[in-house]
Amino acid sequence: MKRKTFLIRSFSTLAGFFALPTTGLLAHNPRGDQKNKPFIISTWSHGLDANIAAWEVLIQNGRALDAVEKGVRVTELDPDVTSVGVGSNPDRDGNITLDASIMDEHGNCGAVAFLQHIKNPISVARQVMEKTPHVMLAGEGALQFALANGFKKEDLHTDSSRQRWEDWKKSKNNEPIDMHNHDTISMLAIDNNGDISGACTTGGLAFKHHGRVGDSPIIGAGLYVDNEIGGAGGTGVGEVIMKTLGTYLIVELMRNGLSPQAACKEAVMRAVKKIPDAKDLPVYYIAVNKQGEFGAYGTNREFEYAVYTENKGNTLYRAESVY
Ligand code: GLY
Repeated sequence: MKRKTFLIRSFSTLAGFFALPTTGLLAHNPRGDQKNKPFIISTWSHGLDANIAAWEVLIQNGRALDAVEKGVRVTELDPDVTSVGVGSNPDRDGNITLDASIMDEHGNCGAVAFLQHIKNPISVARQVMEKTPHVMLAGEGALQFALANGFKKEDLHTDSSRQRWEDWKKSKNNEPIDMHNHDTISMLAIDNNGDISGACTTGGLAFKHHGRVGDSPIIGAGLYVDNEIGGAGGTGVGEVIMKTLGTYLIVELMRNGLSPQAACKEAVMRAVKKIPDAKDLPVYYIAVNKQGEFGAYGTNREFEYAVYTENKGNTLYRAESVY
């Protein structure tokens, strides 16, 4: 069952090309077939490897929650992914600080923010969800919680991440922060019971201010799941996603009848309408509904996402976009 398809399918046909400015347009979603179970969708091409690990859980009748955790751990541990987990781009002071959140089919959620020295923040987020009465732990408190629960304190830098910081210090440190530099992994899965869970994990914006936290650990911003309706995940400029609570908005739009595709588009258009400069920034969403119909949308043409289904295998798509 291990299939990895390096195929980019573009669904940016006429509707996407003309970049219709309003929402409520015909849902551009020929792909859901009501039987997409099990199902995985994740952000970017690094989602392909993450999907393979998650799929192994789902085809053994595992829980979607276990699948999304196992899936995004692959990305967190991959030193070649420079925006998630080990080897992430550091902040302005050279520290790798990580954000993550996870949400299950019962509406339980857990998150860590501004966590340092732990390779798999998603697993700490899960333990926050399962072992504490809280939703989020941050900074030193999150680290102490992780260490008390068996995680090891480690240096997350690679030679490459250190070098990127050295290069940035030499050339860029007096310039405004480049808001384009981050590729979070968000993943949503439906298991054989039809239950939905999601996970979201990131190193955040490259060369950010020390202490900056993005959308990824904020439930309703970087990730939201309602098992009656569906789930949504975000990637891109956290500040925009936080200001518009994009994933909560998408799930509520699906509750009101929009397809995942139309809901993702509406959330992007809302950001573009409400936030100055959002149209020039990367803001991207993925979503799936309870029927296994899925969608994705972004401000620009750069966004790719990976979908794993029984019928089509593991496939990389390019999302429709405003521009
Ligand atoms: N979406 C990742 C971040 O802004 O931190």
